[in-house]
This record gives sequence, structure tokens and C-alpha cells, in this order.
Amino acid sequence: MQTLLAWIDERFPLTKVWKEHLAEYYAPKNFNFWYYFGSLALLVLVMQIVTGIFLTMHYKPDTALAFASVEYIMRDVDWGWLIRYMHSTGASFFFIVVYLHMFRALLYGSYQKPRELIWLIGVVIFVALMAEAFTGYLLPWGNMSYWGAQVIISLFDAIPVVGPTLSEWLRGDFVVSDATLNRFFAFHVSAIPLILVALVFVHIVALHKVGSNNPDGVEIKKKKGPDGIPLDGIPFHPYYTVKDIVGVTVFLMLFAAVMFFAPELWGWFLEPDNFVPANNLLTPPEIVPLWYFTPYYSILRASVYNFFWIDAKIWGVIFMWLSILLFFFIPWLDRSPVKSIRYRGGKYKTALAIFVVSFIVLGYLGTKSPEVVSFFWVKNVYWVQAFTVLYFAFFFLMPWYTKYDKTKPVPERVTG
Ligand code: HEM
Repeated sequence: MQTLLAWIDERFPLTKVWKEHLAEYYAPKNFNFWYYFGSLALLVLVMQIVTGIFLTMHYKPDTALAFASVEYIMRDVDWGWLIRYMHSTGASFFFIVVYLHMFRALLYGSYQKPRELIWLIGVVIFVALMAEAFTGYLLPWGNMSYWGAQVIISLFDAIPVVGPTLSEWLRGDFVVSDATLNRFFAFHVSAIPLILVALVFVHIVALHKVGSNNPDGVEIKKKKGPDGIPLDGIPFHPYYTVKDIVGVTVFLMLFAAVMFFAPELWGWFLEPDNFVPANNLLTPPEIVPLWYFTPYYSILRASVYNFFWIDAKIWGVIFMWLSILLFFFIPWLDRSPVKSIRYRGGKYKTALAIFVVSFIVLGYLGTKSPEVVSFFWVKNVYWVQAFTVLYFAFFFLMPWYTKYDKTKPVPERVTG
């Protein structure tokens, strides 16, 4: 083995990479629960790619065959149901894990200097992940696949002058059709996964350049021992490789519970309308995306007034994109001198809590009809508008409430 390793090392920096990124990569010793989600996101990414490859072996990207090929996978292909449910459950778990991973960054200010680039790459990953989920959802050619794509692509129609041409170009046809299915397939199985893997790679390269943040938001590189090793750092391997096994085990238990006992999760992970083949003469009573898109879908539908000669539909699209793209600016909107929520004051804590509540409420209301009167005899659309304002307030007021927040002194060393 030693001779083989030496042979490889002369030709490829295997031991060097192993040491630099695992055995001698010093991570803060106080990682907590929230630090599981990066490695879990990696796990789900690999799982989606592997199950996706196996699905592609039997799936047919053709409007005449797609729906039946998925049914064939579910009923006739050996273990096909398992592969398909792993992939569909994996899609929702991917978003759960990534949302928790992003929330961790908001808790501990992980996007602040010097980690802005890790965060920016993360937001690009998030947008790519949304594109991956959107294109994947068309593939089973169910009725919600069809109408979901129809609604989202036709949003471009509202853009003045170029809109109709643009949406036709995106679809490759006047309606969502075989050409659309084929190009979505190409993006879903090759272009976007390649982009995602490349982005995740640079995400981790950027992380290892500056080192991980931690729940105290203390820079461990500032306090090094005589050996040059951070006093509060421990080697990633074996400490965190072993710790991550705990996270992976618990995660897989939850994942298996959903996958084996409730893969549709009462319509939250697989919608009933998608068990009906695509039909352009049968519009589902309520066209609703899966849960991970519903907060943005709510924001899209919050807009019902025409302003400045611009159509309400266009404002909706602008607000929806803004609600996603604002994440890019967080490193510069946050003016706090401290990173971690542990040393921040009430203002940031309140703002973050309101943001989380508005995200969840918008997500919930995104699955309901805007016209229905719900809580306190108020129509859903008004609730959506109120929570959309709160959602945006988190970003737009951030420079103010982070600057004037009453912070606590940050300790010199991590507190454990
Ligand atoms: C496929 C999706 C993703 C994968 C596989 C991934 C992977 C990772 C890994 C392995 C780490 C180090 C372990 C950890 O800190 O948990 C990490 C750190 C980080 N990620 Fe991601 N990530 C993904 C998406 C995102 C997204 C969407 C964002 C934000 C928009 C983001 C922001 C960050 C930040 C700020 C850190 C540094 C955290 C710290 O040091 O406290 N990541 N990521």
C-alpha cells in the first residue's frame, strides 16, 4: 500500500489533498446541530445524481411515452419504485436540507467577511437547484407538470415587446409540448447537474480557503498555538467525519420513514394531480407548485394591481425574482459588528423570527386559492400581501436594524 501511495503521490497530490482538506483541515471545535446540513446537502446531491442515472435508463422523454414510462418504472422495473421514490423524496429533502443550511448562515452570520464568496456561490447553487427542480417536475408529464410549466413559462408573455417571442423560444413551441419536454430533459439530466457539481466544488474550495465559521462567530485563525494550529481547531478527519455519520444516520432514518411509509406526504411531496396524465383540455382546479416553491409563488400572486402602466403580472414576476435575488446582497446589507446571533441584540432576533414566520406563512398560503376567505374573514390574497411586505422588510430594513442593534461583547475564544 505504501509503495502504491508513493507511486500515486509522485504523479498526483493525493496525500497532500487528503491532509489539506481532511486530516489537517482544522475546523472549529464547537460545531453544533446546524453544521450537519452542509454534508447532508452533499449526500442528497450524490443520491439524486445516482438515482437520476438509474431512472434515465427506463424513462422516455417523449410526450407520448413519458407518463407511461414512469408508471412502468413504478410497477414493472425491478426496484424501480424504490429508485423513483428515493428521487422524488430526495428532491423535497434537498430543499429542506438547503433551507436549514441557509438558515444556519443567517443564525451565525456565516456570509459576513471573509465568507461573502461562499455565500454568493451558495445563492447561485440555490438558483440552480430551483432550475433543476423546475425542469425535473415536467418530466413525468403529469397534469400538474404540464400546467405548472405552462403557467411559469407564460409569465414571460407579460414582458412588453419581447415577451411572447421569449416564451415561445423557451418552450420551443406555441404551447408546452414535446420540444419543451426534450429540452427540459436535457437541462435536468446533464446541463444543470454539471453546473451544480461544479458550483458545490468551488463552494467548498472557497470555504477551505477562509475556514469555517462557527456558532460563536469567532475567527479561530486569530488564536494559533506555537505549532501554527488554531487553538480552537480540531482536524476535520476523524472528528467531523465521525460526527457527520450521526447526522447521516438520523437523516436516513427520517428519509426512509417518509419514503417507505408516506412518499407522497399527503400531496406535499407528490401532488395528486400529477398521477393524471398531462391534458391540455383539463386544467387542475388549483395550479400549485410543490412546497419549496410556494413562498415565491405567493409573492408572485401577491401582485394584483397595475402600477405605472405596468401590468400586475409583471410586477409579480419582478417581486418574485427580487425575493430570491435579494439573498445575494445580504453580506452587504448586514452592518452588524458581530456575526453570531448569540451576541446580537433583540432587533436582529426579532427580524429573523418575523422573516421565518413570513416565509412559512407565504409557503402555506401559496398552496391555497388567493380568493378564498381564511383567517379572520380576510381573503388569502390580503394575508399574502401583508406577509410579502414583512418578507421584504427583512432585507430592506437590514442595514438599519443590524447597525443600531444592541450587541454583546464577543469572547476571544469559542465557548464550546
Ligand atoms: C447543493 C447544495 C449545497 C451543498 C452541497 C453545500 C455544501 C456545504 C458544505 C459541505 C459546507 C461546509 C459544512 C457546513 O458548514 O455545513 C458548506 C458551508 C457553507 N455553505 Fe453550503 N452547500 C450548499 C448550498 C448552499 C447554499 C444554497 C448556501 C446559501 C445561500 C450556502 C452557504 C454556505 C455558507 C455561508 C457556508 C459556510 C458556513 C460556515 O462556515 O458557518 N450553501 N456548504
